[in-house]
Amino acid sequence: MSLPPGFLDELRNRVPISRVIGRKVVWDLRKSNQAKGDWWAPCPFHQEKSASFHCDDQKGFYYCFGCHAKGDALTFLKEADGLEFIEAVKVLAAEAGMQMPEPDPRARERSDRRSRLFEVTEAACRWFRLQLQTGAAAEARDYLARRGLDQAAEERFEIGFAPDQRYALGQALREKGFDEGLIVEAGISARPEGGGQVYDRFRGRIIFPIRDGQGRCIGFGGRAMDPNARAKYLNSPETPLFDKGRNLYHMGPARSAVAKGKALIVAEGYMDVIALARAGFDGAVAPLGTAITEDQLRLMWRISPEPIIALDGDAAGQRAAQRLIDLALPMTGPGQALRFVILPAGQDPDDLIKASGAAAMGALLDRARPLVDLLWSREIEGQVFDSPERKAALDKRLADAIGRIPDEATRRHYDRELGQKKWALFGGGGRRPGKPGQGGRKPGAARVVAMDSSLPGEDLLEGASLLICALRPELIAAVEGRIERLTPRDENRAALLFDLLSHSDSPAGQRGLETLRADAHLGLTPSVISSQDADAVAAILNNLLDRLEAQRAAGAELARAEAEIQGEADEGLTWRMQQIARARHRAERPELESSGDLNEDRDALSAQLSGWLSEEIWRKPPRR
Ligand code: UTP
Ligand code: MN
Repeated sequence: MSLPPGFLDELRNRVPISRVIGRKVVWDLRKSNQAKGDWWAPCPFHQEKSASFHCDDQKGFYYCFGCHAKGDALTFLKEADGLEFIEAVKVLAAEAGMQMPEPDPRARERSDRRSRLFEVTEAACRWFRLQLQTGAAAEARDYLARRGLDQAAEERFEIGFAPDQRYALGQALREKGFDEGLIVEAGISARPEGGGQVYDRFRGRIIFPIRDGQGRCIGFGGRAMDPNARAKYLNSPETPLFDKGRNLYHMGPARSAVAKGKALIVAEGYMDVIALARAGFDGAVAPLGTAITEDQLRLMWRISPEPIIALDGDAAGQRAAQRLIDLALPMTGPGQALRFVILPAGQDPDDLIKASGAAAMGALLDRARPLVDLLWSREIEGQVFDSPERKAALDKRLADAIGRIPDEATRRHYDRELGQKKWALFGGGGRRPGKPGQGGRKPGAARVVAMDSSLPGEDLLEGASLLICALRPELIAAVEGRIERLTPRDENRAALLFDLLSHSDSPAGQRGLETLRADAHLGLTPSVISSQDADAVAAILNNLLDRLEAQRAAGAELARAEAEIQGEADEGLTWRMQQIARARHRAERPELESSGDLNEDRDALSAQLSGWLSEEIWRKPPRR
């Protein structure tokens, strides 16, 4: 097949090479400079862990510094997918929305038909725009003005008006030479069920033209001005051009904005996109009157690795979030993440920007929460975890959800993160007496009111470490370097730490110590700590500090030993302390270091400590 001159160049220019390659590799987003079209990834042509494969959207070339594979998008398709040259051209042309020179007459007919359909939608788009300037559109212009849309906005978003007439547009289009069948096929006119004259689909509505990624008009959304209208929004039906599940409103401009460093924001409605874009968030898109689909997620990820989903603060928005969690989990992975912003109750982005301004919207977007947070909230909200069965049910739900993630590393991180959240919920200070709203409840009954991702366990570890040092000052010398690095947020605790390190005595330090002594959560410590032999206590102290440091250093990576904690609550504390001391002792023996058993020992130790620190144990009144 012969290709017209310039065809291949045009093809290469239209499709960023990173889009083609991005399907086969996982970009190293830290090394890449997305805004500049400068991409790095582990090479798809040879085995490697580092990212020595480079591709440059500007030049349209890739090169691997490891295996020296190189070429353009077409070469890549040939090499990576094993395509013939002409097949690769076809794939790329489809992607670029370019027509292949077609020898097949039927295909040519089809493509001619398509371009005719585009001509109709463009003509309709122009007609709607013109109608907005007519006398019949006075009410529409008022409506737009009331909604804060000025002329600049009308032009930017090509807002139009469909007058309340049955045949005006169809007639205008026929006068331009488009036949009735074409106008119906483009979704502009509708054929009455029982036959008869075709009529205009959009009547008495504000019109939002919808364009595809290449900027071609594929359909329309129509907003009723009458609050009592049967449908607030009417969208074009599915047509050969308008595939609701595979397009997004405002996609082309959003893609350019994202390339310039803006965030990709997915709102629910056309008006939200317009409000967002006008407020400077021009990477905004919206689905087309349906819930977000898998194809749309893929589309978003081709534009940005981490779109922010901004959902209305109403029941429908919440439901949409739930659906999205289930839709996205089996697709999520590196470079395919989501963040969520749930707007204040009763508001959508348009309302929020109008009421509180762009800065308020920006602040919300900055606090967008990752998918894992939403998953967690969904599984715990409104529930009481006051029995092993309920906790186990939660474990099961979370495990099921995690199991749906295809990417191994992502799955592991979900597992860890959800484990931490569980630990914070069950194992940490969440049930500490004296906390507002928690008084009087059965021990162990943590009612979940809202998401809490802080780790109260840290507070407990710190308190226990300080208390042990205060009660057994002879141990301080050995751990001085480590406790020096503690940075208590509580000022009395900080004073106590200073006193311990400087062998002094201050009123604030005393207050710190008294608070720790009086803390019901640590209630067992003074008697136990004072009576144990120095080695055992030193081991515990070291373990507390290990935990604390590990938690702080590794972003609070905690064992999720909730089940074990519950199960061990009744066993003898002394026995457990001996175990800890023994495990600690083993862990310190150098020959174990190389035997590979060390990690196992450490894990056992961590589990012991979690158990030892669990509330059930600490809260027991001292044995007499
Ligand atoms: P919303 O009801 O949230 O409307 O629908 P909105 O975007 O805030 O619009 P305004 O501010 O009231 O004008 C969100 C999206 O859902 C689709 C449309 O795509 C709309 O933008 N929708 C809504 C429909 O397709 N049909 C409807 O009847 C309502
Ligand atoms: Mn709205």
